Amino acid sequence: MVVALICGGGNGAHVAAGIGSSQPGVEARVLSLYSDEAERWNNAMKHNDFTTTIVVKGKDPIVLKTRPSMVSKDPGEVTPDVDLIIFMVPAFAHEQYLKALKPFIRPGMVLVGCPGQAGFEFAVWGILGEKAKQVSVMSYDSLPWACRLTQFGSAAEVLGTKNSLAGAVQKGSTPPKEDPTSMMQKVLGPSPELVTRGHLLGISLMGVNAYVHPAILYGQWSQWDGKPLDAPPLFYNGLGRSGAQALSQLSDEVMATAKAITAVRDDINLTNVEHIFDWYLHSYPNDIVDKTDLYTSIRSNGAYTGLTHPCVKTAEGKYTPDFGHRYLMEDLPFGLVVLRGVASVAGVPTPTMDKVITWAQGHMGKEYLKDGQLSGKDVSDSRSPQKYGFTTLESVLGE
Ligand code: NAI
Repeated sequence: MVVALICGGGNGAHVAAGIGSSQPGVEARVLSLYSDEAERWNNAMKHNDFTTTIVVKGKDPIVLKTRPSMVSKDPGEVTPDVDLIIFMVPAFAHEQYLKALKPFIRPGMVLVGCPGQAGFEFAVWGILGEKAKQVSVMSYDSLPWACRLTQFGSAAEVLGTKNSLAGAVQKGSTPPKEDPTSMMQKVLGPSPELVTRGHLLGISLMGVNAYVHPAILYGQWSQWDGKPLDAPPLFYNGLGRSGAQALSQLSDEVMATAKAITAVRDDINLTNVEHIFDWYLHSYPNDIVDKTDLYTSIRSNGAYTGLTHPCVKTAEGKYTPDFGHRYLMEDLPFGLVVLRGVASVAGVPTPTMDKVITWAQGHMGKEYLKDGQLSGKDVSDSRSPQKYGFTTLESVLGE
């Protein structure tokens, strides 16, 4: 029996609870620390079925009716016998869960960021301290599904299941009950296929929202004349040349970081790190119409049809950019700033990261970079390695 604790109360957590509890040999529990979610979830299950509907192209949907064995706000209640703790919340919530779970973390447990996003491992090591050495840490680059919850605590829908999910694991000094990947695969069922390889840092560096979102915003708005627009511009399909160039250069700096690290440490496997153009080509094999270059690939990616820039509607019914959106407020502190921190430890120059961060932090009212260094007052609210005092390559690698 694999006992999995799913952390969260949103779309992914609902689906993981439904799918996990339907797998043979798996017990799925839920921990939600947020507001009164656990109470609401339990109340909803008292009066309704817990239904997970999986949409399958060209076939009838699969409807699961299994439910998590426990839903709680109390980490002490749900952690006994747990083998796997799966963090299925936006990255900004990881810290809160790690702090609450810390007293209940036991040697041999496996902690999974799904998605981990840039710096999941730094948060685990930084918050758990000595305890972190005895647990295994895994991170995957996305959620296994495109999904949404349709009725809180009782119904969720999987709109699409990924074919495969890339991740990495760092095993702790106390071995887990079973191989971490096979336990996680048991919880998810056969799809997506988990491809766990290389160092955790490779997954952090490939948390692509960290550079895709800020680069596209930078391209669109850094030269904006301040005049409200008639309609929100298309986000991906409306990408301009300058945004594509910024994105490509950010990706170059990420790759240079990986290269600098493997140049001094050939035992570190960062083969997961690739250029964003290559990432697009294999992530969207059937959606991109014009694969000429990064610019054409994003502009012609059918998976992005209709997605627009986050905007605020003015009293006159026009639109201005929403710089309070998660594309900056999360993808800087839990994304680009983390990567800037890793590049700094690796000694890699980052002129494009600095240009984009400097522009973005001005609109966010934050300060990460100060005088060209990651020493601004808001670094402590990011999860850059520097926040946790990881300023050597060994510490960034978890050694
Ligand atoms: P979600 O948006 O449904 O998460 C909301 C949940 O986060 C809430 O129910 C609550 O449990 C927690 N939360 C929200 N605000 C909080 C706060 N202030 N403090 C503590 N907890 C708080 O997230 P979802 O959709 O499950 O996605 C999880 C991650 O996976 C996100 O990073 C998302 O970007 C990513 N993702 C989601 C996909 C999807 O189809 N839903 C697809 C691919 C990636």
